[in-house]
Amino acid sequence: MAQQLTNAKMVVDKDFKVSEIDPRIYGSFIEHLGRAVYGGIYEPGHPEADDSGFRKDVLELVKELQVPIVRYPGGNMVSAYNWEDGVGPKDKRPSRLELAWRSIENNQVGTNEFMDWAKKAGTDVMMAVNLGTRGIDAARNLLEYTNHPGGTYYSDLRRSHGYEQPHKIKTWCLGNEMDGPWQLGGKTAEEYGRTAYETAKAMKLVDPDIELVSCGSSSSNMPTFPQWEATTLEHTYEYADYVSLHQYYTNYENDTANFLAKSMEMDHFIGTVVSTCDYIKAKKRSNKTINLSFDEWNVWFHSTAEDQKVEPWQTGPPLLEDVYTFEDAVLVGSLLHTLLKHSDRVKMACMAQLVNVIAPIMTDNGGRVWKQTIFYPYYYTSLYGRGTALNPVIHSPKYDSKEFTDVPYLDTSVVYNEEKEELVVFATNRHLENTLKVDCDIRSFEGFVVTEHVVLEHDDPKAVNTVGEEQVKPHHNGKSYMENGHLQGILPKMSWNMIRLHKQK
Ligand code: AHR
Repeated sequence: MAQQLTNAKMVVDKDFKVSEIDPRIYGSFIEHLGRAVYGGIYEPGHPEADDSGFRKDVLELVKELQVPIVRYPGGNMVSAYNWEDGVGPKDKRPSRLELAWRSIENNQVGTNEFMDWAKKAGTDVMMAVNLGTRGIDAARNLLEYTNHPGGTYYSDLRRSHGYEQPHKIKTWCLGNEMDGPWQLGGKTAEEYGRTAYETAKAMKLVDPDIELVSCGSSSSNMPTFPQWEATTLEHTYEYADYVSLHQYYTNYENDTANFLAKSMEMDHFIGTVVSTCDYIKAKKRSNKTINLSFDEWNVWFHSTAEDQKVEPWQTGPPLLEDVYTFEDAVLVGSLLHTLLKHSDRVKMACMAQLVNVIAPIMTDNGGRVWKQTIFYPYYYTSLYGRGTALNPVIHSPKYDSKEFTDVPYLDTSVVYNEEKEELVVFATNRHLENTLKVDCDIRSFEGFVVTEHVVLEHDDPKAVNTVGEEQVKPHHNGKSYMENGHLQGILPKMSWNMIRLHKQK
């Protein structure tokens, strides 16, 4: 039976600018957790492994995503990590109890290997320092090791390890989720603020060109949110360039309509953090603006029960291996719209994570690599969401769900790439039954025509991709068209779409 139509309208104009998009909004994350590193990016002996043990099949998919920056090495893991364990001759590196995930860390991949991998993947690295069990000293030494050219103890140590040139890592996280009671060496806001300030001071003395991310709350559900941001930024404002946001979305209730509205929660979260940063700016009579690094975001809940059964003290255990559904991909599409809508303040963001651990890319040990459902909205938005984010005016019918009221069926983000003379409309239809017909006035884009309409749709919200079978993948048969200078966007029920338009030659 043909789907019923619901109508919506929008106006897109070149002059309605949000911001130039910082490409680092399409970042990701690799933690020494589960099979992200061991069995993910690194598997010596695998038929696809290169001379350094990195899987070329995984690298190919990472390159396909055009990931501009990858956060490393954690996550919770960094809060008890000794970076010195991971450098120098591999046969001399210790195996340690990795307490955050109760695994064995054999340190066969460390800072230099990861920098090599990043180069192969064509990505920058966002490095995190341990402010849990360690502090100023370990952080400044690591920075000297990675960024100082030579002639000092740690820079010469790096050179003796075969890395003559400094890595010049620009972006550094001052710890991870230090508000979390689960965090090794967790801190109160006052304690963290002081430690982060002193660490930041030392780090900027070692290398004034670096950018620093001050730890925000581990999620907007934390009881200390947003006072944590206010208190810690009072301390770190002078040296910090960004504050971090982390949030994972769940559908434990199995309520699709409510789940698809959760990007509104992200929107609210970002708004609150922006306000808090600007409150501290006002309080300090500062001219400096702190931007946002949403450096952990994704759907995460499918694997939580399974994870309880995993035996501790293994290297590369199968942890956090969420198998993503079609509805997860639709929400991920909307989360990306939300980041773009806030691209005036969200300058970096990391889909957490990249391989095997709550990830768009999955592998079998010794076997194949495949794309999860969430790979697709991430892929298309990363490739085509570059340029200027525009702020469309939207008139959409709305619905109420268990936790949200006035949820627009139409969720969208719009990007104009002037250089390519390309207008890209990313659009989600949250309606579970009806096609959404969107009359889109693109008045300042005269002569533009639809050149591609990619659709991610599936009849079963719970459809998944597995190693042998990719049930959820996009098709290019979207039905959008131009009529009297307006784009008529035809968005099938519960779907994620990308409509590209170009100026007709
Ligand atoms: O990404 C998984 C974990 O989620 C990270 O280690 C931690 O920072 C967050 O709680």
